[in-house]
Amino acid sequence: MNTTVYDDRLAEALAAIDAAADAEALEAQRIAALGKQGWVSAALKTLGGMSPEERQEQGPRIQGVRAAVSEAIDRRKAALDSAALEEQLASEVLDLTLPAPAAPKGSIHPVSQVMDELAEIFADMGFSVATGPEIEDDWHNFTALNMPESHPARAMHDTFYFPQEEGAQEVQPRRMLLRTHTSPVQIRSMVEHGAPLRIIAPGRVYRSDSDATHTPMFHQVEGLVIDEGIHLGHLKWTLETFLKAFFERDDIVLRLRPSYFPFTEPSVEVDVGWQDVGGRRVLGGNGDDVGHGWMELLGSGMVNRRVIEFAGLDPDKWQGFAFGVGVDRLAMLKYGMDDLRAFFDGDGRWLAHYGFSAFDVPTLSGGVGAKL
Ligand code: PHE
Repeated sequence: MNTTVYDDRLAEALAAIDAAADAEALEAQRIAALGKQGWVSAALKTLGGMSPEERQEQGPRIQGVRAAVSEAIDRRKAALDSAALEEQLASEVLDLTLPAPAAPKGSIHPVSQVMDELAEIFADMGFSVATGPEIEDDWHNFTALNMPESHPARAMHDTFYFPQEEGAQEVQPRRMLLRTHTSPVQIRSMVEHGAPLRIIAPGRVYRSDSDATHTPMFHQVEGLVIDEGIHLGHLKWTLETFLKAFFERDDIVLRLRPSYFPFTEPSVEVDVGWQDVGGRRVLGGNGDDVGHGWMELLGSGMVNRRVIEFAGLDPDKWQGFAFGVGVDRLAMLKYGMDDLRAFFDGDGRWLAHYGFSAFDVPTLSGGVGAKL
């Protein structure tokens, strides 16, 4: 090959590269020149058979040709890319002056709506929102909540455990599981932030249980207050204030019954009064009145001093209360759904009926209850 041949081929190749209409055509040009069988590669191979003087002259020349081709390809690629981007930008114009669609699709799930309502109500009482992992270890989910290895309450939780690692039984003190309640967030919050503390922790929890009122995954919100001199009165006032704001009724009446949870002492089950309105149970009023009744709503109590200790705080200085309530259940009671399973079916018709507008943001000033 003599010099003019390179010049001619190079001019030809550069013209073809500049004319490549798309990435595919450009790649074909790259292969034809720089590929294993390409003409530039073939030219490079001829260097081996040359005399040293000839190679000294031809070497830089052929390398120059290669560099020119490869620069031209890069330049063309950049041009094609920016043309594609220009075209995309031109075709994806968004006219912000257009009116909103008459029938917007998509809605906020009642669980999300209720969680937003809870965050709003509790924020007003100085609570912040805490979160914890859904894949927990048994120390946070049970042990630190005063449920040691052989505690009968562990069996009651129908826990989904992860398989133990092969042969690791003894060296794996923290078994992994799907959290059975939001109470482990109590521990995580105290360990991380210490005291005083005021949090709610909404989120998913898991139990191996399934019927019309139980699904293997459901939602709880945990409440925890740790401070000096906290007593049951604070718990009752907080729950009353929360439920009145949530159900938007001033006549919410609570009944506290002695109960048992390993992590609270004393423990109280909280019932809320309902009344019969045209065959429907509506929350409100004293459950002991004629035509009224009580419905069990949530578990709560004063944080067990052992739990405060497990979380690394001094139980002689710090006391607190905690509660846990089903978010799905709160949604059902407030918005009138009767089958929990429908919450998680992902049926568009159910969501269209029970879902909320994305614009319906709960605020205390505008009302935490969604406008149905
Ligand atoms: N974790 C308990 C449950 O899931 C509820 C609870 C929370 C009770 C906090 C007392 C205090 O049933």
